[in-house]
Amino acid sequence: MTNSASHPRQILVTSALPYANGDIHLGHLVEYIQTDIWVRFMKMQGHQCFYVCADDAHGTPIMLRAKTEGITPEQLITQSYQQHLHDFQAFHIAFDNYHSTHSDENKYLSASIYQRLQADGYITQRTISQAYDPVENMFLPDRFIKGECPRCGNADQYGDNCEACGATYNPLDLKNPYSAVSGSKPIKKDSEHYFFALPQFSEFLQSWLQSGHLQEEVSNKLNEWFKTEEGLQDWDITRDAPYFGFQIPETEDKYFYVWLDAPIGYMASFKHFCQQHTDIHFDDYWKAGSNTELYHFIGKDIVNFHGLFWPAMLKGAGFRTPTAIFVHGFLTVDGKKMSKSRGTFIQAKTYLQHLDPEYLRYYFATKLGNTLVDIDLNLEDFRLRVNADLVGKLVNIASRCAPRFINKIFHNTLSETIENTALLDTFIHAADNIATLYEQREFSHAMREIMELADKANTYINDQAPWKLIKETGQEKQVQAICSLGIHLFRILIIYLKPVLPVLAKKAETFLNIPPLQWQDIHTTLLGHQINTFNPLMQRLEEQQINTMLEESKHTTATTLSTTTTKSDTQSVEPIAKSISFDDFIKVDLRVAKIIKAETVEKADKLLQLTLDIGDNVPRNVFAGIKSAYTPEQLEGRLTVMVANLAPRKMRFGISEGMVLAAGPGGKDLWILAPDTGAKPGMRIK
Ligand code: MSP
Ligand code: ZN
Repeated sequence: MTNSASHPRQILVTSALPYANGDIHLGHLVEYIQTDIWVRFMKMQGHQCFYVCADDAHGTPIMLRAKTEGITPEQLITQSYQQHLHDFQAFHIAFDNYHSTHSDENKYLSASIYQRLQADGYITQRTISQAYDPVENMFLPDRFIKGECPRCGNADQYGDNCEACGATYNPLDLKNPYSAVSGSKPIKKDSEHYFFALPQFSEFLQSWLQSGHLQEEVSNKLNEWFKTEEGLQDWDITRDAPYFGFQIPETEDKYFYVWLDAPIGYMASFKHFCQQHTDIHFDDYWKAGSNTELYHFIGKDIVNFHGLFWPAMLKGAGFRTPTAIFVHGFLTVDGKKMSKSRGTFIQAKTYLQHLDPEYLRYYFATKLGNTLVDIDLNLEDFRLRVNADLVGKLVNIASRCAPRFINKIFHNTLSETIENTALLDTFIHAADNIATLYEQREFSHAMREIMELADKANTYINDQAPWKLIKETGQEKQVQAICSLGIHLFRILIIYLKPVLPVLAKKAETFLNIPPLQWQDIHTTLLGHQINTFNPLMQRLEEQQINTMLEESKHTTATTLSTTTTKSDTQSVEPIAKSISFDDFIKVDLRVAKIIKAETVEKADKLLQLTLDIGDNVPRNVFAGIKSAYTPEQLEGRLTVMVANLAPRKMRFGISEGMVLAAGPGGKDLWILAPDTGAKPGMRIK
């Protein structure tokens, strides 16, 4: 049980570290909001609870992405750090420290953990053969190799699994493989790798999995590793140069795999925090046998790393292991995985331009339990729930009691007596149950309990009808007592909701003219207290705001790349092609062209044959694959943009002397670029 500030607990909490090459989206926020609510609740209970996190800054995708953007990885991760921090603050995620895995603390801790593991014989070494890009001179992670599926033959499949038939395989088995970085054909190349000897922790892990550190479905899933023929495998913790990460001690060109130093980032962030707070000691939280508590909140896609590798690493290096790992499900929007074309791949920054972050905090709270079930953001339900619960029920209590009565008639003064102690007691007695639900991460259940109380408060005010009573003579004291009780009940609800709605709670504290509320404040009542004038505490959520947000989300670029390949719910972005210099780019001669003729091509399903005029009296013949989106009549006479200096290509139907530019996912959704009016054929676009 949590509700005894007399025995404050010492708790360290983390959320998974977001990759530094993607923007924070609403999927991520499920986790950060869930963790933040839990931490705020623990703090309100009077426990010492610290919440640390960091950007996960290493790995191949980050290195390659920096390269395509023409910046250094350090520049990329600095930008990302700032954007992430900004998004988190805007959603009121109150980290005690937010650091980066690319930090001195993490470098030191990663090296020292590795050296401890090595000293105790947990690091092995052997040569392995991997796909290598001979043009870029780099080994290729699975998702940067593409080719034809060895089973069904579908083209353009990733190196580890086929999206068409679901086959999983080794990237070396792909037919006609090519590097997604350079396009070249990968070769096989040997390299000496270091491994973490996970099988040596087999016994430890098996008992750890059974000791209540994990949700049952998670331990069951992880237990399956021990039932397979081969059992646990050595874990490859090496990546060859070029790589953005930490060099492995005593090697020249070997780096720690990003997933080695990522969880160590939890420790590093806390170490950085301790350096600024000399009364808090790193060892109290990390040394073996520590009686402080350590919790990791993560999504269901990264349980292997946290439930197997991480505890084994900690154990092997002589540190404490986590008290528990709390795993949540994935976000869907309107029942489907987030999708750019539907506008439901919503980034934090897009949301923030249109909606109040507390709407989402509350809605996620109404959906979150302590299982791995996916969480659905149903946009209609979202709007109705926020409006009904927060505006219609919660805020309504205060707005019915304060402005017309306590503020106006009673000069902001609450009654000296309690009108209905039984009702007040019902509210107070709900505290333990609600606290237990919070602690167990049963937020949706807690929200239901709280809203039932809000219903009770509203029913009470309805029944008492102070607006009628005030018209009768001699009833002023009674009206004051009724409305004061309304305010007392409102205040208790605010205490219960404060972990979810910190900003609304702050506004309520100002209105109530009180210091920041703690959980134990349920036991006091503001008798004879002076409050302040009531100001609207929250606006209604309008449908239009959601629609605008969705529309805008269709046009914001998704930049989420991940280094794991198991992410089925996030949108994956094809690796960016090899970068070209500005000098290369400027060689492309883009011209405004007038479509003087457009015709269908016999036996060609997708092509239209265009005759283009770029003002030099030399008509160009171009075949364009845009028949799915345009009829010839729609095109004749229009302006478009063409690559005028593309070398002529012989096609099955004739010679194509250029290319028209179009955008869109394909099919009907394809648009030729049509320059604004005022353009003239032949104009160069720069
Ligand atoms: N960098 C790793 C974590 C390293 S922890 C030592 C990573 N990063 S991530 O940016 O891809 O995801 C960060 C967290 O957000 C993960 O716990 C992940 O499960 C969670 N989510 C990412 N997309 C999500 C949804 N669509 N829905 C719910 N949670 C999601 O993994
Ligand atoms: Zn296939």
